[in-house]
Amino acid sequence: VGSRLVLGIETSCDETGAAVLDETGFILGESLHSQKEVHLKTGGIIPTVAQRLHRENIAGVVQDALNKSGVAPRELTAVATTVKPGLALSLGIGLEYSLNFVKQHEKPFIPIHHMEAHALTVRMIQPVPFPFLVLLISGGHCLLAVARDVDDFLLLGQSIDEAPGDTLDKVARRLSLVKHPKCSTLSGGQAIELLAKEGNRLKFSFKTPMGQYFDCNFSFAGVRNQVTQVIKQKEEEEGVQQGGILSCVNDIAAAAQHTVASHIAKRTHRAILFCKERGLLPECSPTLVVSGGVASNQYIREILKIVTDATGMHLLCPPSKFCTDNGVMIAWNGVERLRAGKGIMTHTDQIRYEPK
Ligand code: KG4
Ligand code: ZN
Repeated sequence: VGSRLVLGIETSCDETGAAVLDETGFILGESLHSQKEVHLKTGGIIPTVAQRLHRENIAGVVQDALNKSGVAPRELTAVATTVKPGLALSLGIGLEYSLNFVKQHEKPFIPIHHMEAHALTVRMIQPVPFPFLVLLISGGHCLLAVARDVDDFLLLGQSIDEAPGDTLDKVARRLSLVKHPKCSTLSGGQAIELLAKEGNRLKFSFKTPMGQYFDCNFSFAGVRNQVTQVIKQKEEEEGVQQGGILSCVNDIAAAAQHTVASHIAKRTHRAILFCKERGLLPECSPTLVVSGGVASNQYIREILKIVTDATGMHLLCPPSKFCTDNGVMIAWNGVERLRAGKGIMTHTDQIRYEPK
């Protein structure tokens, strides 16, 4: 007892999450309600559906996290909630709930930036000092940034179209991998990683995007188009209807994964060289943190390891449980801000929730 306690609330996308953490990052209680299965059926997130599900689940999820922690609302030091970026309708539910909660229990409010929370989650597990380079790759995110302080991030690049997890999910859907006996329960990215192990990536060659751009941005739409073209062509050759499984599915998976991986690695390499040239990272043991759902891909990790070994960087991937959206990462960002005394609001009257 004596440690400050933070309740974190996340509703930016398709996970309703809450967690109670103490100042050391110890998780006293957490709760997560995922909407992923619902959205899978409609082939993507319908914002009004996401909003309704957040609304139905938010109170239960927060109560569950509090119950598990054994912490009463009056014992909390502050409430931290994702306020951006994300789906406006989804964010609105978490914000509305939180503003009512802090008013009722007279608690300070800490507004949280979802990407900053992802970037700093690693520090809950080990004390990585600032500054460090962070690569965030998931179904909804793709960016490279230097984390310089709790509230100071330098964005080096981001995707100009879609995120790599989204690309892999779409390719998997186009290959009908849910019907593949080995893949029925896997996410698109996981299915592609599994099949790629049995495939020969050299059977197809896809162009790595943006080689002509001297920046750290990403683009994956072109990769997806190239892969889709090949799938169409092979369907014709093999006389397979769209929706059927191609005999060369493993090779396509391997080549697609390789192209995504090498694009990510090339842009990360550029970012590392840029940071070194500008002195943006410490000379001694500079760190690359890789987070997000796609960071659990072993092939991508191996390629990134080649890049970090070649540039004298230390590669760190937090456990996948902490790479994905949840209340824990938001509560942790609240703890970081509380410790640093940054961004804590005792009057939330100026924050207005505008229902749409
Ligand atoms: O961070 P996350 O759980 O959620 C959002 O992005 O909202 O990431 C999910 C994404 C999905 O696109 C999924 O296909 C991808 O991460 N993913 C993977 C792997 N596991 C999950 N992609 C490649 N390889 C994996 N092993
Ligand atoms: Zn996220």
